[in-house]
Amino acid sequence: MDKLPYEFHDDRREIRFDRFDLPAPWINYLSNGRMHAFVSQAGGGMSWWLSPMMFRLTRYRFYNMPIDSPGFYVYLRMTDGTVWSPSFRPCETPVDFREASHAPGYSAFTAKKDGLTATLKLFMAQDYDTLVWDLKLTNESGEEISCDVFAYVELSQFLAREENILGYYLKWNTRAVFDEELQAITYAYTAWMHPRKDESPLVTFASDAKISSFCCNRDLFCGNYRDERNPVEVQNGRLSNTNLQGGEPCGALHTHVSLGKNEAKQLHFFLGVTEGALSDYDKAIAGAKETLTALRKEGAVAGQFAKLQSWWADHLAVYQCDLPDEDAQRMINTWNPLQSVQTARYSRSISSDASGVRGIGFRDTAQDMLAQVYRKPEWATEMLWYLASQQLEDGHAIHTAWPEEKRPPQDITRSDDHIWMVYLAYAIAAETGDLRFLDKEIPFLETDLVTPVGSATLWEHMLRGVDFTEKHLGEHGLPLILFSDWNDHLGPFGRKGKGESIMVSQQHILALRQLAELAEARGERAEAFDRLIEKQEKALEQFAWDGEWFLRGLDDEAKPIGAHTQSHARIWLNAQSWMVIADACREHQLEAMDSAARELDTGMGLLLNTPGYPGWPSKEAAMVNGLPAGYSENGGVFCQANCWAIMAEALLGRGDRAWKYYKQIMPNEVIKKVGVERYHAEAYAYCSTMLGKDNEKFGWGCVSQVTGTAAWMDVVATQYLLGIRPTLKGLLIDPSIPAEWDGFTVERSFRGCHLTIRVENPDHVQHGVKELSVDGRTLDLARGAIITDDRITNCQSAIVHVTMG
Ligand code: GLC
Repeated sequence: MDKLPYEFHDDRREIRFDRFDLPAPWINYLSNGRMHAFVSQAGGGMSWWLSPMMFRLTRYRFYNMPIDSPGFYVYLRMTDGTVWSPSFRPCETPVDFREASHAPGYSAFTAKKDGLTATLKLFMAQDYDTLVWDLKLTNESGEEISCDVFAYVELSQFLAREENILGYYLKWNTRAVFDEELQAITYAYTAWMHPRKDESPLVTFASDAKISSFCCNRDLFCGNYRDERNPVEVQNGRLSNTNLQGGEPCGALHTHVSLGKNEAKQLHFFLGVTEGALSDYDKAIAGAKETLTALRKEGAVAGQFAKLQSWWADHLAVYQCDLPDEDAQRMINTWNPLQSVQTARYSRSISSDASGVRGIGFRDTAQDMLAQVYRKPEWATEMLWYLASQQLEDGHAIHTAWPEEKRPPQDITRSDDHIWMVYLAYAIAAETGDLRFLDKEIPFLETDLVTPVGSATLWEHMLRGVDFTEKHLGEHGLPLILFSDWNDHLGPFGRKGKGESIMVSQQHILALRQLAELAEARGERAEAFDRLIEKQEKALEQFAWDGEWFLRGLDDEAKPIGAHTQSHARIWLNAQSWMVIADACREHQLEAMDSAARELDTGMGLLLNTPGYPGWPSKEAAMVNGLPAGYSENGGVFCQANCWAIMAEALLGRGDRAWKYYKQIMPNEVIKKVGVERYHAEAYAYCSTMLGKDNEKFGWGCVSQVTGTAAWMDVVATQYLLGIRPTLKGLLIDPSIPAEWDGFTVERSFRGCHLTIRVENPDHVQHGVKELSVDGRTLDLARGAIITDDRITNCQSAIVHVTMG
């Protein structure tokens, strides 16, 4: 196989690239929680404030050529007219050396040409809503160098959808002008139809270097029938000092730099926003001035960068491991929790693939936040409360919401949305040991989906969810599919309103088990939950077993979904894994997971179901809404579902197989097998799905970054494979590891105490703990390998010794 175009540098939590024309943009997110950007290994990317749909600041040409453009561009024009860039885009001029790197919160681009080294580091200031471009030029040529530096962004009309549809009118509501006093380009989008026009920001593009010329007009900057790869104004060596009142805006700034022998200079560009350009222009200008004055001060940029780094260091320090497996360790310590933050922030909405208008999914966010519970429980709690406010009085939850955009949510009733809330609540309670958040009063949504009606505690909200499921059972006592369940494409099996879902039954059981535990912890009775569990278990025992594996459901005609007699989608992964997770139908669990291994494991992930239905124009294509065979829910390797298979194997104590599944779907491992061209997507972030073996491009990673795989893989790896798992009773130590491992170590903060957990595996087992001690005191394992609160109260830190066997 060809040499890989990247290398990980784990000491710096960095991936470094030495080739840039990858099959897709491999992106990194830059953010301070309010202002955001993504940037690729080639320097392409876009930025937005609060919402990529409402306040899109810069443009990105989704789906179009040239791929991955525009971005955050710096041009260096030498005296002989040569123009090159620290990043691969836009110029592509050959240079003597080029490198780029992504790390949590920042990306850096370095190029060298004729003795001049240019490094551009991009990151989001933490105290100011500003994307910082930190440019360092070093002259090692042995002669004086003089060059012109241009920084460029293409500005956007804020409202992403409207820009696409009505941009030809709305472009007359753009105003970009150079403000002499600020020494900055200021940009406002003035369309009256902006739903949040009072907040509409003033965008500024500025520098701490002396500005020699500027341009606010994209089309003049580039020139007729040219683009940002060879802009005519850069070629001319001087910008046209053009303001713009309507048209296609850009921010282009020019400064002249002279470097003596061995001299290095640092200069910065700042792309920032201040709130309220349309409601109080003077105030917005004053705000911009304050920000720019602060950022132009000596040391300010370095200070902001240090703050950013400490945010990530603190976030990651909550859980760090030392494993005899470098790839897994890297993923668990850095890249997976990094991606989990992105999905918690952006749901399925924005990446170089996802165009940023999707809002947040109820079920998606409930799952995404599972990976924040153990690092930022307050954040997870806030989101859970918000989600509960998107539930209707009958207990079902809306499916998609736009909290930032304040658009009315979308309500097409799924059978599962509300259930996911319970798992998040349980996880929060288990992490913090504090149940008070369950008593928070939260309004329900009226059926008009906007007006809040009546309110109830979060606890009551969850009970309404149980009621909803109980009131929507089918003829066999299993929950109805309704519009769909977790699987967005299951709907066609239940369009007539009678189809039933075994996965929802399994989910319901797990939720009821967790509610029963929570009820007891609240000093309430749990019998009602136990009775419902028993009822569901009976239905499953009666209808779910197909002989070698579990069915996925029953369709409108009561015919089985996922049975050995069928020619397509004969076996479905989630039905097997969730039976273990729900701990139901115990006698068949092992056989079901063995069948999944035999039928679904491709060696590069398990298929969601197999074989896929043939695509259009076959009659069967309708069963999967026309998805081609091998893609996503139709016989693809659905990565999120792989997490549950890993979790199930870990719960069964089959560490070898759980780790095989975990390792084989790790992007870097897939790339080692099939190469970058085939896999396409980032080596450090999970994809939503990989094409399955029914497709000739088996192994292609699709829809990367924005996927529920991030949170689940994070939870599964830290809590089920390494097995450091919070429960209401305390911290359970329950590793499922490869038998060949001698042991591993985890550093983990839990309920205020920093634990160093050293696990030894002298007997080379895959599962099982035979000895556990905290600070030298051995625990009685009769009630499980659980570190209860009394062992760690008032401890700042403790050493935990675990012996497996
Ligand atoms: C996508 C959706 C998610 C759904 C899954 C399976 O990831 O965002 O909500 O559960 O597909 O269909």
